[in-house]
Amino acid sequence: MGRGDDLRDGVGAPGVGLFVTFEGPEGCGKSTQLRLLKSYLQEQGWDVLDTREPGSTPIGERVRAILLDPACAEMVPTTEFLLFSAARAQHVAQVIRPHLARGGVVLCDRYADSSLAYQGYGHQLDLEVVRRITDFATGGLVPDLTFYLDVPVEVGLRRKSGGSGDAWNRIEQKGIAYHGRVRSGYLTMAAADPDRWVVVDATQSVERVQELIRAAVQARWNGPKGEKGGTR
Ligand code: TYD
Repeated sequence: MGRGDDLRDGVGAPGVGLFVTFEGPEGCGKSTQLRLLKSYLQEQGWDVLDTREPGSTPIGERVRAILLDPACAEMVPTTEFLLFSAARAQHVAQVIRPHLARGGVVLCDRYADSSLAYQGYGHQLDLEVVRRITDFATGGLVPDLTFYLDVPVEVGLRRKSGGSGDAWNRIEQKGIAYHGRVRSGYLTMAAADPDRWVVVDATQSVERVQELIRAAVQARWNGPKGEKGGTR
Protein backbone atom coordinates (compact mmCIF):
# COMPACT_ATOMS: atom_id res chain seq x y z
CA MET A 1 0.00 0.00 0.00
CA GLY A 2 1.70 3.24 -1.07
CA ARG A 3 0.96 6.71 0.10
CA GLY A 4 -0.75 7.59 -3.14
CA ASP A 5 -3.02 4.55 -2.88
CA ASP A 6 -6.61 5.76 -3.11
CA LEU A 7 -7.72 3.14 -0.56
CA ARG A 8 -6.52 5.61 2.04
CA ASP A 9 -9.55 7.82 1.46
CA GLY A 10 -8.35 11.08 2.86
CA VAL A 11 -6.06 9.93 5.67
CA GLY A 12 -2.98 12.07 5.16
CA ALA A 13 -4.98 14.99 3.82
CA PRO A 14 -4.87 18.15 5.94
CA GLY A 15 -7.37 17.91 8.77
CA VAL A 16 -7.92 14.16 8.39
CA GLY A 17 -5.56 12.11 10.49
CA LEU A 18 -5.77 8.65 11.96
CA PHE A 19 -5.76 8.21 15.73
CA VAL A 20 -4.78 4.75 16.95
CA THR A 21 -4.47 3.79 20.61
CA PHE A 22 -2.95 0.76 22.33
CA GLU A 23 -4.44 -0.54 25.54
CA GLY A 24 -3.89 -3.52 27.72
CA PRO A 25 -2.92 -4.79 31.13
CA GLU A 26 0.55 -4.73 32.60
CA GLY A 27 3.05 -6.73 30.54
CA CYS A 28 0.88 -7.14 27.43
CA GLY A 29 3.65 -5.92 25.09
CA LYS A 30 1.85 -2.89 23.68
CA SER A 31 4.94 -0.64 23.58
CA THR A 32 6.80 -3.19 21.40
CA GLN A 33 3.81 -3.54 19.08
CA LEU A 34 3.40 0.22 18.80
CA ARG A 35 7.06 0.62 17.85
CA LEU A 36 6.80 -2.09 15.17
CA LEU A 37 3.65 -0.55 13.69
CA LYS A 38 5.32 2.86 13.67
CA SER A 39 8.28 1.58 11.59
CA TYR A 40 5.93 -0.16 9.19
CA LEU A 41 3.83 2.97 8.63
CA GLN A 42 6.88 5.18 8.31
CA GLU A 43 8.29 2.86 5.65
CA GLN A 44 5.08 3.56 3.73
CA GLY A 45 5.78 7.28 3.95
CA TRP A 46 3.32 8.22 6.69
CA ASP A 47 3.93 11.04 9.11
CA VAL A 48 3.68 9.03 12.33
CA LEU A 49 3.78 10.44 15.83
CA ASP A 50 4.19 8.04 18.70
CA THR A 51 3.23 9.24 22.11
CA ARG A 52 2.14 7.88 25.49
CA GLU A 53 0.09 8.57 28.58
CA PRO A 54 0.48 9.82 31.17
CA GLY A 55 2.97 12.44 30.01
CA SER A 56 4.29 13.56 26.60
CA THR A 57 4.06 17.30 27.31
CA PRO A 58 6.16 19.29 29.80
CA ILE A 59 3.10 19.73 32.02
CA GLY A 60 2.02 16.11 31.55
CA GLU A 61 5.49 14.83 32.53
CA ARG A 62 5.28 16.81 35.78
CA VAL A 63 1.85 15.34 36.46
CA ARG A 64 3.27 11.87 35.64
CA ALA A 65 6.01 12.39 38.23
CA ILE A 66 3.36 13.09 40.90
CA LEU A 67 1.34 10.03 39.84
CA LEU A 68 4.39 7.74 40.06
CA ASP A 69 5.98 9.27 43.18
CA PRO A 70 6.03 6.69 46.01
CA ALA A 71 5.76 9.64 48.42
CA CYS A 72 2.23 10.15 47.08
CA ALA A 73 1.07 6.71 48.21
CA GLU A 74 -1.90 8.19 50.08
CA MET A 75 -3.43 9.47 46.83
CA VAL A 76 -7.13 8.60 46.58
CA PRO A 77 -8.59 7.21 43.32
CA THR A 78 -10.51 10.43 42.57
CA THR A 79 -7.32 12.52 42.74
CA GLU A 80 -5.54 9.93 40.61
CA PHE A 81 -8.26 10.07 37.96
CA LEU A 82 -8.32 13.88 37.87
CA LEU A 83 -4.53 14.03 37.50
CA PHE A 84 -4.60 11.53 34.60
CA SER A 85 -7.37 13.63 33.06
CA ALA A 86 -5.46 16.90 33.51
CA ALA A 87 -2.39 15.42 31.81
CA ARG A 88 -4.64 14.08 29.04
CA ALA A 89 -6.30 17.46 28.39
CA GLN A 90 -2.87 19.00 27.81
CA HIS A 91 -1.72 16.04 25.68
CA VAL A 92 -4.77 16.25 23.40
CA ALA A 93 -4.55 20.02 22.96
CA GLN A 94 -0.80 20.35 22.60
CA VAL A 95 0.25 17.15 20.81
CA ILE A 96 -2.51 14.89 19.47
CA ARG A 97 -4.93 17.30 17.83
CA PRO A 98 -2.23 19.36 16.06
CA HIS A 99 -0.72 16.20 14.51
CA LEU A 100 -4.11 14.91 13.38
CA ALA A 101 -4.90 18.35 11.96
CA ARG A 102 -1.78 18.02 9.78
CA GLY A 103 -3.17 14.74 8.42
CA GLY A 104 -0.73 12.58 10.38
CA VAL A 105 -1.11 9.25 12.11
CA VAL A 106 -0.99 9.30 15.92
CA LEU A 107 -0.07 6.09 17.75
CA CYS A 108 -0.74 6.48 21.46
CA ASP A 109 0.39 4.10 24.20
CA ARG A 110 -2.63 4.30 26.54
CA TYR A 111 -5.34 6.93 26.34
CA ALA A 112 -8.75 7.63 27.91
CA ASP A 113 -9.75 3.95 27.99
CA SER A 114 -6.97 3.40 30.55
CA SER A 115 -8.83 5.74 32.92
CA LEU A 116 -12.08 3.87 32.30
CA ALA A 117 -10.34 0.53 32.91
CA TYR A 118 -8.01 1.38 35.83
CA GLN A 119 -9.88 4.15 37.67
CA GLY A 120 -13.42 3.29 36.55
CA TYR A 121 -13.56 -0.51 36.54
CA GLY A 122 -10.44 -1.13 38.66
CA HIS A 123 -11.03 1.40 41.45
CA GLN A 124 -14.77 1.28 40.91
CA LEU A 125 -15.28 5.02 40.45
CA ASP A 126 -18.66 5.97 38.98
CA LEU A 127 -18.29 5.05 35.29
CA GLU A 128 -20.70 7.70 34.09
CA VAL A 129 -18.76 10.43 35.91
CA VAL A 130 -15.48 9.07 34.56
CA ARG A 131 -16.93 9.16 31.03
CA ARG A 132 -18.25 12.73 31.40
CA ILE A 133 -15.01 14.13 32.80
CA THR A 134 -13.01 12.24 30.15
CA ASP A 135 -15.20 13.76 27.45
CA PHE A 136 -14.57 17.20 28.95
CA ALA A 137 -10.80 16.62 29.18
CA THR A 138 -10.45 15.36 25.62
CA GLY A 139 -12.98 17.68 24.00
CA GLY A 140 -14.68 14.51 22.76
CA LEU A 141 -11.65 13.16 20.88
CA VAL A 142 -12.21 9.40 20.48
CA PRO A 143 -9.65 7.13 18.75
CA ASP A 144 -10.44 5.79 15.29
CA LEU A 145 -9.01 2.42 16.25
CA THR A 146 -8.07 0.91 19.61
CA PHE A 147 -6.04 -2.26 20.03
CA TYR A 148 -6.61 -4.18 23.22
CA LEU A 149 -3.73 -6.60 23.71
CA ASP A 150 -5.22 -9.24 25.92
CA VAL A 151 -3.24 -11.43 28.28
CA PRO A 152 -4.48 -13.24 31.39
CA VAL A 153 -3.67 -11.21 34.53
CA GLU A 154 -1.17 -13.70 35.93
CA VAL A 155 0.72 -13.92 32.61
CA GLY A 156 0.93 -10.12 32.31
CA LEU A 157 2.11 -9.61 35.88
CA ARG A 158 4.71 -12.35 35.50
CA ARG A 159 5.99 -10.75 32.28
CA LYS A 160 6.11 -7.34 33.97
CA SER A 161 8.18 -8.73 36.82
CA GLY A 162 10.65 -10.12 34.27
CA GLY A 163 9.71 -13.69 35.10
CA SER A 164 11.10 -13.29 38.58
CA GLY A 165 9.35 -15.51 41.10
CA ASP A 166 10.28 -13.11 43.90
CA ALA A 167 8.49 -10.18 42.33
CA TRP A 168 5.51 -12.39 41.60
CA ASN A 169 5.31 -13.51 45.22
CA ARG A 170 5.20 -9.92 46.44
CA ILE A 171 2.01 -9.27 44.51
CA GLU A 172 -0.87 -9.26 46.95
CA GLN A 173 -4.19 -10.95 46.37
CA LYS A 174 -5.87 -7.54 46.30
CA GLY A 175 -3.59 -6.55 43.43
CA ILE A 176 -4.63 -9.56 41.41
CA ALA A 177 -8.34 -8.87 42.01
CA TYR A 178 -7.82 -5.25 40.94
CA HIS A 179 -6.05 -6.28 37.73
CA GLY A 180 -8.81 -8.79 37.09
CA ARG A 181 -11.40 -5.98 37.22
CA VAL A 182 -9.23 -3.90 34.88
CA ARG A 183 -9.07 -6.73 32.36
CA SER A 184 -12.78 -7.49 32.43
CA GLY A 185 -13.47 -3.75 32.14
CA TYR A 186 -11.41 -3.63 28.95
CA LEU A 187 -13.20 -6.67 27.54
CA THR A 188 -16.59 -5.13 28.36
CA MET A 189 -15.68 -1.87 26.59
CA ALA A 190 -14.30 -3.73 23.58
CA ALA A 191 -17.42 -5.86 23.24
CA ALA A 192 -19.64 -2.76 23.42
CA ASP A 193 -17.90 -0.99 20.52
CA PRO A 194 -16.49 -3.53 18.04
CA ASP A 195 -16.18 -0.87 15.29
CA ARG A 196 -13.44 0.87 17.23
CA TRP A 197 -11.89 -1.93 19.29
CA VAL A 198 -9.76 -4.80 18.05
CA VAL A 199 -8.99 -7.44 20.67
CA VAL A 200 -5.77 -9.32 20.00
CA ASP A 201 -4.63 -12.38 21.92
CA ALA A 202 -1.23 -11.11 23.06
CA THR A 203 -0.05 -14.49 24.33
CA GLN A 204 0.86 -15.22 20.67
CA SER A 205 4.31 -14.44 19.25
CA VAL A 206 5.36 -10.80 18.77
CA GLU A 207 5.39 -11.38 14.99
CA ARG A 208 1.90 -12.86 14.88
CA VAL A 209 0.44 -10.08 17.04
CA GLN A 210 2.05 -7.47 14.76
CA GLU A 211 0.65 -9.23 11.67
CA LEU A 212 -2.88 -9.03 13.13
CA ILE A 213 -2.41 -5.37 14.03
CA ARG A 214 -1.22 -4.46 10.54
CA ALA A 215 -4.13 -6.34 8.98
CA ALA A 216 -6.57 -4.45 11.20
CA VAL A 217 -5.07 -1.07 10.27
CA GLN A 218 -5.30 -2.01 6.60
CA ALA A 219 -8.92 -3.13 7.04
CA ARG A 220 -9.68 0.14 8.81
CA TRP A 221 -8.36 2.09 5.85
CA ASN A 222 -10.29 -0.05 3.41
CA GLY A 223 -13.52 -0.13 5.41
CA PRO A 224 -16.49 2.23 5.15
CA LYS A 225 -15.31 4.48 8.00
CA GLY A 226 -11.96 4.90 6.29
CA GLU A 227 -13.70 7.12 3.76
CA LYS A 228 -14.09 9.80 6.37
CA GLY A 229 -10.88 9.04 8.20
CA GLY A 230 -12.51 8.49 11.55
CA THR A 231 -15.33 8.73 14.02
CA ARG A 232 -14.46 12.05 15.62
P1 TYD B 1 3.65 3.04 32.64
O1 TYD B 1 4.95 3.02 33.35
O2 TYD B 1 3.53 3.94 31.45
O3 TYD B 1 3.22 1.53 32.35
P2 TYD B 1 2.66 0.71 31.12
O4 TYD B 1 3.86 0.19 30.42
O5 TYD B 1 1.84 -0.37 31.74
O6 TYD B 1 1.81 1.61 30.23
O7 TYD B 1 2.59 3.42 33.73
C1 TYD B 1 1.35 3.75 33.45
C2 TYD B 1 0.49 3.19 34.57
O8 TYD B 1 -0.57 4.09 34.79
C3 TYD B 1 -0.11 1.85 34.20
O9 TYD B 1 -0.10 1.00 35.34
C4 TYD B 1 -1.54 2.18 33.89
C5 TYD B 1 -1.80 3.42 34.69
N1 TYD B 1 -2.80 4.35 34.11
C6 TYD B 1 -4.00 4.54 34.78
O10 TYD B 1 -4.23 3.95 35.84
N2 TYD B 1 -4.92 5.41 34.25
C7 TYD B 1 -4.69 6.11 33.10
O11 TYD B 1 -5.55 6.90 32.65
C8 TYD B 1 -3.44 5.90 32.42
C9 TYD B 1 -3.13 6.63 31.15
C10 TYD B 1 -2.52 5.00 32.96
